[in-house]
Amino acid sequence: MKPQIIIALDFKSKEEALAFVGRFTDPAYFKIGMELFYAAGPDVVREVKARGHKVFLDLKLHDIPNTVKSAMRVLGTLGVDMTNVHAAGGRRMMAAALEGLTEGAAVRAEQTGEPATRPLLIAVTQLTSTDQAMLGEELCISGDMKDVVAHYARNAAAAGLDGVVCSAWEAGDIHGQVDPGFLTVTPGIRLAGDAADDQSRIATPARAVALGADYLVIGRSITRADDPVAAYQRCLREMEE
Ligand code: C5P
Repeated sequence: MKPQIIIALDFKSKEEALAFVGRFTDPAYFKIGMELFYAAGPDVVREVKARGHKVFLDLKLHDIPNTVKSAMRVLGTLGVDMTNVHAAGGRRMMAAALEGLTEGAAVRAEQTGEPATRPLLIAVTQLTSTDQAMLGEELCISGDMKDVVAHYARNAAAAGLDGVVCSAWEAGDIHGQVDPGFLTVTPGIRLAGDAADDQSRIATPARAVALGADYLVIGRSITRADDPVAAYQRCLREMEE
């Protein structure tokens, strides 16, 4: 598939987020994460969708299978295009999430009369803020980051999920080890010259595409730019080069 950019709407209120979204006249793909969702609730999802954009609801669920399934059933009614869990919750939790999401999408279809479309379900492998030292010393996971990420990706695929969140540096390996069609969603993207901030495993848009990323999640390189639309277009150009 042609790689796509997902812009992270990391804002503290619905007003701020929608003012930002309003700058984008063409349909785009936006990520709503914990900060915005906890502040504004499902309303902000509906409003971004109503403006013709796609939504990745990034809430990274991680709990016992039954709880995750019930929560996913609710998220499935919101009409988002993609959502996620932590692969660390295990295969049973991921499979339960998928069931809940599928049920929620069916409920939505009944309510709206639209065909049931299950949102894509993606698993976070290792956060892009985690580096090799932290993996071993704090999380007590021995093994190379690449192998750990690939292992989690295989678990996600076995549970029937559509793809994983990983760094661009692991995307090619995952396509090779799991399935070329298994999606890789890659945060930790920075335009050349921008600060890494709290991210560890970063790549530029061009490098991420070269490494095989399917979706590039970009936050601060776009949201903190003086001209966010121009920064978005620069990312698109860089991806196409
Ligand atoms: O500003 P920046 O481009 O670093 O934003 C990256 C976004 O992707 C943030 O919203 C962050 O929560 C999210 N994310 C991440 N690493 C993951 C999963 C999601 O950085 N593994």
